[in-house]
Amino acid sequence: MSDGLFLIYARASNGVIGKDGKLPWHIPADLKRFKALTMGKPMIMGRKTFDSFPSPLPGRRHIVLTRDRDWQSEGAEVAHSRAEALQLAGQGQIAVIGGAEIYALFEQEAERVELTEVHSEFEGDTYMPALDEAVWQEVAREDHPAENDRPAYSFVTLERRRESAK
Ligand SMILES: NC(=O)c1ccc[n+]([C@@H]2O[C@H](COP(=O)([O-])OP(=O)(O)OC[C@H]3O[C@@H](n4cnc5c(N)ncnc54)[C@H](OP(=O)(O)O)[C@@H]3O)[C@@H](O)[C@H]2O)c1
Repeated sequence: MSDGLFLIYARASNGVIGKDGKLPWHIPADLKRFKALTMGKPMIMGRKTFDSFPSPLPGRRHIVLTRDRDWQSEGAEVAHSRAEALQLAGQGQIAVIGGAEIYALFEQEAERVELTEVHSEFEGDTYMPALDEAVWQEVAREDHPAENDRPAYSFVTLERRRESAK
């Protein structure tokens, strides 16, 4: 486990996290929370998630995993393996911001998950499994009701259980 490494994602109640390279919903408060929790920290992401941004996000380093040795992009620090990404990120807080392939690659390293539960089902093509309660313990929750077209959602913080062998 890496001290200070956390996963951050929003997940629908049917597991969907993405559709056609984008988020399937628009929840401004979630984008605001994402900004607050990642600002000033190195972010590790997959090349597809990087490509989903219109441009790099201000105030944060973008460490981008790709298997393509020729890939480069303005604002991206390229890594070709998990170890290389961790080395580039250095010590301290590190935000792993997706997508599904990258969460799977780093879950074992994470000490915390900042999850947004979107309390609705969405169509999509990218999924995250439910977190294992034997490994992850909920330590904070903030519930928000549905409003007009926007679904209800909850901001949830989970920490790795100390006794967890994973
Ligand atoms: N709801 C949320 O919170 C959230 C967060 C993030 C993303 N998303 C959504 O998720 C979708 C993208 O997720 P995704 O799982 O399809 O893609 P992704 O994880 O963003 O990126 C996958 C890419 O990462 C690279 N990669 C993966 N494993 C690697 C490894 N071991 N070594 C080196 N490179 C590696 C490969 O890039 P190359 O193909 O270049 O080799 C691979 O194609 C989008 O719809 C996005 O909007 C949602």
